[in-house]
Amino acid sequence: MTQKKINMKVDIGGVVWKNPVSTASGVFGFGEEYSSFFDINALGAICLKSLTLKKQVGNDSPRIAETSSGILNSIGLQNPGIDFFIKHELPKLKKICKTNIIASIAGSSIEEYAIIAEMLGSNVNMIELNISCPNVKEECITFGINSKSVENITKKIKKVSKVPLIVKLSPNVENICDISKAAESGGADALSLVNTFLGMKIDIKNQKPYFKNTFAGLSGPAIKPIALRMVWQARLATKLPIIGLGGITCTNDALEFLMAGANAVAIGTYGFFDPLIWPKIKDGIEKYLIENNINDIKNISLTNSY
Ligand SMILES: Cc1cc2nc3c(=O)[nH]c(=O)nc-3n(C[C@H](O)[C@H](O)[C@H](O)COP(=O)(O)O)c2cc1C
Repeated sequence: MTQKKINMKVDIGGVVWKNPVSTASGVFGFGEEYSSFFDINALGAICLKSLTLKKQVGNDSPRIAETSSGILNSIGLQNPGIDFFIKHELPKLKKICKTNIIASIAGSSIEEYAIIAEMLGSNVNMIELNISCPNVKEECITFGINSKSVENITKKIKKVSKVPLIVKLSPNVENICDISKAAESGGADALSLVNTFLGMKIDIKNQKPYFKNTFAGLSGPAIKPIALRMVWQARLATKLPIIGLGGITCTNDALEFLMAGANAVAIGTYGFFDPLIWPKIKDGIEKYLIENNINDIKNISLTNSY
């Protein structure tokens, strides 16, 4: 018997992904390192480390701490800067990468984000706005924290971006529905959620906070149920395509996000435990569709609800 053809393609903000699996920003560098582990072109997209205008050396160590079910990180957006990326990293990546490239961008002012987006032009397939950064012009309040500033930054970057714009939401907000709607009214083409949760650790030997910045970002399995809840809420609040992420470790986790309303998924922290997790989850989703007689990824949904 011949195998029925399964459609794994998804449309994320006007960009066709061959399947709904991507890497999360910050755990995949600029892609090259992972190309020796697996064919990165098997994925629907790869999302790169956040880029800033100038090179950033990142935070002092310690930068990572394991928790019982995830990790805390305080990397501090270490990256070579947009200029270096365009001149040296992007050409190397383009030689090996035929799938969608998502450039994640970060800044300390809207002007910085805008310059980076303009410099990227249409040399990447999508831009992801990392809005979990402090705005130095607004008392260092994180861009992603309130609806007004989310709408404002989205609108300004959308105006200069030559490629579809994903707005990556912070989970450290009062109301994820309002924030999702704000990104939509600012003109976002898609949403991704979530970024890391603010957490902390105490160094009890020295009786002080473990991280120099006191707080750090929590990711990995610990956050999955909360991230899933937020994706569900965002789905009810907006019609935008959603990339769901936060604590995904296996195919079943990814399927939960897709059933909660995500159109695609991204995996971050678990890649440190299993560098083959991305193609494994892609294959696992396909297997699930075949076994459940679902011929199109778009038809994954909940059939029952309370
Ligand atoms: C070490 C590390 C570095 C990260 N760097 C970035 C980054 O540069 N930009 C960004 O938007 N998110 C960054 N993140 C957040 C992830 O992209 C992701 O949103 C988060 O970790 C939740 O997914 P996960 O539980 O699958 O890791 C980073 C996460 C980790 C663990």
